[in-house]
Amino acid sequence: MSNYHIKNFEEYFQIYRKSVREPENFWGEVAEEHFVWRKKWNSVLQYDFSKPEFKWFEGAKLNITENCIDRHLMTRADKTAILFEPNDPAEPAQHITYAELSKRVNKMANVLKSQGVKKGDRVCVYLPMIPELAVTLLACARIGAIHSVVFAGFSSTALATRIKDASCKMVVTSDGSYRGSKTIDLKGIVDEAVAQCDSIETVLVVKRTGEAIPMEEGRDQWLEPLLDEASTTCEPEIMDAEDPLFILYTSGSTGRPKGMLHTTAGYMVYTAYTFKNIFQYKEEDIYWCTADIGWITGHSYIVYGPLANGATTIMFEGVPSYPDFGRFWEVVEKHRVTQFYTAPTAIRALAKENLDYVNKYDLTSLKVLGSVGEPINEEAWHWYNDNIGKQKSPIVDTWWQTETGGIMISPIPYVTPTIPTYATLPMPGIQPALMDERGEEIKGNLVNGSLCIKFPWPSMARTIWGDHDRYRDTYFSAFNNCYFTGDGALRDAVGYYRITGRVDDVVIVSGHNLGTAPIEDAINEHPAVAESAIVGFPHDIKGNALYGFIILKEFGETRLRENLRKEINQQITEHIGPIAKLDRIQFVPGLPKTRSGKIMRRILRKIASNDTSNLGDISTLLNPEVVEQIIAEVILE
Ligand code: PRX
Repeated sequence: MSNYHIKNFEEYFQIYRKSVREPENFWGEVAEEHFVWRKKWNSVLQYDFSKPEFKWFEGAKLNITENCIDRHLMTRADKTAILFEPNDPAEPAQHITYAELSKRVNKMANVLKSQGVKKGDRVCVYLPMIPELAVTLLACARIGAIHSVVFAGFSSTALATRIKDASCKMVVTSDGSYRGSKTIDLKGIVDEAVAQCDSIETVLVVKRTGEAIPMEEGRDQWLEPLLDEASTTCEPEIMDAEDPLFILYTSGSTGRPKGMLHTTAGYMVYTAYTFKNIFQYKEEDIYWCTADIGWITGHSYIVYGPLANGATTIMFEGVPSYPDFGRFWEVVEKHRVTQFYTAPTAIRALAKENLDYVNKYDLTSLKVLGSVGEPINEEAWHWYNDNIGKQKSPIVDTWWQTETGGIMISPIPYVTPTIPTYATLPMPGIQPALMDERGEEIKGNLVNGSLCIKFPWPSMARTIWGDHDRYRDTYFSAFNNCYFTGDGALRDAVGYYRITGRVDDVVIVSGHNLGTAPIEDAINEHPAVAESAIVGFPHDIKGNALYGFIILKEFGETRLRENLRKEINQQITEHIGPIAKLDRIQFVPGLPKTRSGKIMRRILRKIASNDTSNLGDISTLLNPEVVEQIIAEVILE
């Protein structure tokens, strides 16, 4: 029996038990058998929840790109590593072999070096889903620079905040990007952001759209001529196991975005291991994850996990609705995709369209379907299972987070029997626990509570960049000696987990994690706004949408309020990005508050969901009358 590849349910239990009983032996064996190391570790794991500090494979030396690229050159040089499917279906797909990827990554690494980027420097990557994005990540890893990818849908303000937080030295971007029928001026956004950031020395620009764009002398450089000059060999920087690999920002329920720091060896081992098992990946497979590399799903399951297994991974530049709603299925047929991994919000959007968009295409190549980012509702699960998988491809509902680095709870296809809406069982090495309000673990089955993980795992984020106290406070202070996820979950009669949603002030909109506080901060900057509170409410396609309760400084006329709604959403778009726009805005005379001045979001959530029959006890509020006024207004509007 191999620890690395789980083939049946009995093996899963055996391996899982071993991973809990002897975690160090288990991970040591996985690491030893499946990766190349310049030097082996002294210890598999050292940890201390009180600091908190976690060290995996301490003393080991490696470079992740040797594992993702170089070692495959002996056996898979001509195999496609990255299959690029452009936005426009008329533009040919590109098959980038492992040999070609090696050349491109080495060249890019040499360009970064020639521009003064060194080990430990931060490089901000603000690119669309084009091959240069994956190449830049790997090139940073090759020379030990820390990449910080910012999703190219974020605004210039959001980009600037992230560049400043990590004091990035360089931004890699493109002249523009294609998204469906739209062309977006990415470089213009970068120019606005960089104007506010002193740390940036160089902006490298990939040519994608060919739009005429201004280039700032001494700062901006076209990438192509630099690549033409660069050598195709770049010796990998030999990294310590715990050297940083990347920073990736995620929204918090309060304050600035959190720069989650992931390190090298543990992240590599865990993402490769979970990729292999959760997608039951085989050598000839064509794997497609539709996420953007701007999110953790793309980092772990488009780039590092698949490439560490020598897989063919598709990078898709476009959107599911362009040129029509059949695009995903057209791509599946065209490339004979075997594993397809997407988000519930995309499934729900496509399920609304005519089934002809699906039935036109041959989907018989599919073997595994994946879902990630938010709970998948039963209706969407069945639509996916019936129409895409034809009830033959198991659905893996994968639960995890930016912070966890890799998939934590998920069925293993053809191994774990699935139930709609259940993420089912933990991966080997993952020890979930449900906690009650007193901070005690709830044992047994048929229970629900706050989801924690009570033992370290290799790909956990090691800190928040520049703010270890916040890391401790956010994840390790709510409960003793364990990591708190921020999610609630239930465990059913057989021990399967079902994630019930966030228990904090984070709302998942179309699979994007949005903290309400940063949105409120953006709104409150509008001169007409006195105070605001944002909550989520159920939405057919997005899962959740945002509802803003806003107090104006002067309770304006209706006519003005319409303009204000537009301005407020504009303000949010500028500060965060269009994904954080409010679906509903209600101007209110006050917000329900406790006597200590805390906004009672629980009540606002009920009002926003049109579920006001049982608001619970509101008599302890400072201003219970406001609740009635708000409800009355909802009905009027
Ligand atoms: O609430 C959970 C939800 O997404 C959150 C993590 O968001 P993010 O860091 O952006 O990472 C998303 C991609 C891994 C979680 O705390 N979530 C993610 N996957 C699922 C999920 N909720 C239910 N079921 C899932 N499969």
